[in-house]
Amino acid sequence: MLTNPSQLILRNSDLFTDQNVLVLNYEGDLLPKQLLETAQKVTALSLDYHHHLIMSPYAEPNLALHFGHMLPDEELFDTVIIYYPKAKPLASYLLNLAGVHLKHNGQLLVVGENKGGIRSIVKQVPDYFDNPFKQDSARHCLLYVSQLIEKAPQINLSDWVRNYQLETPQGEITICNLVGVFSEKRLDEGTKLLLSHLPNLSGRVLDFGCGAGVIAAALLKAQPELKIECVDINAMAIESCKLTLAANNFTAVTYPSDGLTQTKGLFNGIISNPPFHDGLRSTTDIAKNFVKDSVQKLEKGGVWHIVANRHLPYSDSISTHFKQVNVSAQNNKYKVYSNKISN
Ligand SMILES: C[S@@+](CC[C@H](N)C(=O)[O-])C[C@H]1O[C@@H](n2cnc3c(N)ncnc32)[C@H](O)[C@@H]1O
Repeated sequence: MLTNPSQLILRNSDLFTDQNVLVLNYEGDLLPKQLLETAQKVTALSLDYHHHLIMSPYAEPNLALHFGHMLPDEELFDTVIIYYPKAKPLASYLLNLAGVHLKHNGQLLVVGENKGGIRSIVKQVPDYFDNPFKQDSARHCLLYVSQLIEKAPQINLSDWVRNYQLETPQGEITICNLVGVFSEKRLDEGTKLLLSHLPNLSGRVLDFGCGAGVIAAALLKAQPELKIECVDINAMAIESCKLTLAANNFTAVTYPSDGLTQTKGLFNGIISNPPFHDGLRSTTDIAKNFVKDSVQKLEKGGVWHIVANRHLPYSDSISTHFKQVNVSAQNNKYKVYSNKISN
């Protein structure tokens, strides 16, 4: 089943017949594979690890699949297709990336849902592209087409990151926030409550949904001896987290994971301000799965410490899987749940 933006691309596939096509920020369907019915070769870059996992079994010589914020090489393409991202500033980054990977006079297609702000593309397109025109509209989506008319500047990540000092309960840390990553320029209220009520931690600790690495950096500020692993589903978040750790001279292992599935072995602690929404999966499912999987991933005596919006349905899952619900702090918006795996 294709998403609405993918269906719109597919019905315009005569635009790239026999071409070498790059797809940026593709969605959780198999469109990159279906494009091969028209295109000669397809390369697809996903910034979402869940989407990458859906596609990866279909890799073949004419279908190159990558996860990350950049391609591993400097290949040039006849056409680049961008799925307009949820975070508007990320669109500007993807346009730069498209420009870098297009042949001279190469074709740019940008697709997105009307309610996702796709119309902004007309003003966002940098002047190395000509003015985009509306090629097609259907299924509440629009498809714009443009052309590369001048050489695009190389991507310099430092142009896309905002560095700032953040005061946390553990002390001041430097945060490097790449476009589109959660919590820009301020300490999230939930994260602040979480960090203000930390339990005693030791050994191997997982920062789940690490974002720009705020929690990991604060933990390492207070306890540099911790062995922290940071996971996130989002490529920009992972890169941000790496930059944040380096900027503070901290060391931690950072890798992509969809939920806890890519983590290995058991942890002495799991700390998180977990995701509260997802395009397709409901918040109840996210909460349920995260609690259930956490119990499997904790050592005996392991600590589980998370913050969640107080109306999110965590209590039932916590009571099912941890056998008791312990709220260690709360305010009018958030609750901090602190549980332990009994010895
Ligand atoms: C509420 S933010 C917290 C970010 C950071 N820990 C902080 O406190 O500032 C949640 C993070 O979870 C990530 N995320 C969403 N779904 C995920 C999934 N299925 N697996 C791993 N991480 C996910 C998001 O990309 C986002 O960075």
